[in-house]
Amino acid sequence: MSETIIEIRNLKKSFGDHHVLRDISLSLGKGSVTTLLGPSGSGKSTLLRCINLLTIPDAGSVRVGEREIAFGAGQLRVRSSQLSAFRATTGMVFQHFNLFPHMNAVENVMEGLVTVRKEPKAIAHDKAMALLERVGLADRASRYPDNLSGGQKQRVAIARALAMEPAVMLLDEATSALDPELVGEVLSVIRQLAEAGMTMVLVTHEIGFARDVSDTVVFMRDGLVVEKGAPDIVIDNPVEAATRSFLARFSAASRSPGA
Ligand SMILES: Nc1ncnc2c1ncn2[C@@H]1O[C@H](COP(=O)(O)OP(=O)(O)O)[C@@H](O)[C@H]1O
Ligand SMILES: [Mg+2]
Repeated sequence: MSETIIEIRNLKKSFGDHHVLRDISLSLGKGSVTTLLGPSGSGKSTLLRCINLLTIPDAGSVRVGEREIAFGAGQLRVRSSQLSAFRATTGMVFQHFNLFPHMNAVENVMEGLVTVRKEPKAIAHDKAMALLERVGLADRASRYPDNLSGGQKQRVAIARALAMEPAVMLLDEATSALDPELVGEVLSVIRQLAEAGMTMVLVTHEIGFARDVSDTVVFMRDGLVVEKGAPDIVIDNPVEAATRSFLARFSAASRSPGA
């Protein structure tokens, strides 16, 4: 495997007495695409949020690139400057886009460059336009989110995440809120990113797409990784009965080649 860019060791997270992540360790290679599958409530979103430190783990450690933070007893309290530096290494894309409604597409993409990176507006604008071009939306730059389709909004959100030049992109059900006819345009942007060598962790229910685009599929249940491996092994020949019954619900989708 290539250089390991994300290393998660013995990650634990509880909310009250609910152990949502029980002991997760994962190593992801640079340029790899990993898909997290598993039933609702198995901890997929919490794991992504812990990689990004939107959620602070209770124990274990997370390394992205050169930056590593350990959590739990015996560790120093993490400073907020450390958290923001760490977060800047990852780009997160959410199911519900989370665009700024009062900014048009190009302003949404520029926002982090101007406010966080303190880049001059003209330079940030040029970079944002290049990114909108990359996701096929250069001609929608001055549209406000209200006047974009769901698929277009999600592509703007992807461009906005890319603007910060993250080492890793984390996509949490990026197509789950979209009308079926808009799913393909977003998947094709994700596929392009994969082909361009972007390291990504995806949560998706598009099983056919996951099989196609992923190097590794991780199946989670009750806060644990229960299966992990190449997509044709985990998706086509799962070991555990629970994985088989989960996948059976998607069997029609998993036979299609994906968008
Ligand atoms: N901020 C939170 N406070 C309390 N419980 C939470 C919080 N976030 C997630 N959970 C709980 O953790 C469990 C796993 O959630 P999640 O990571 O969203 O699972 P998934 O993405 O696999 O559906 C769920 O039972 C959820 O209700
Ligand atoms: Mg989730």
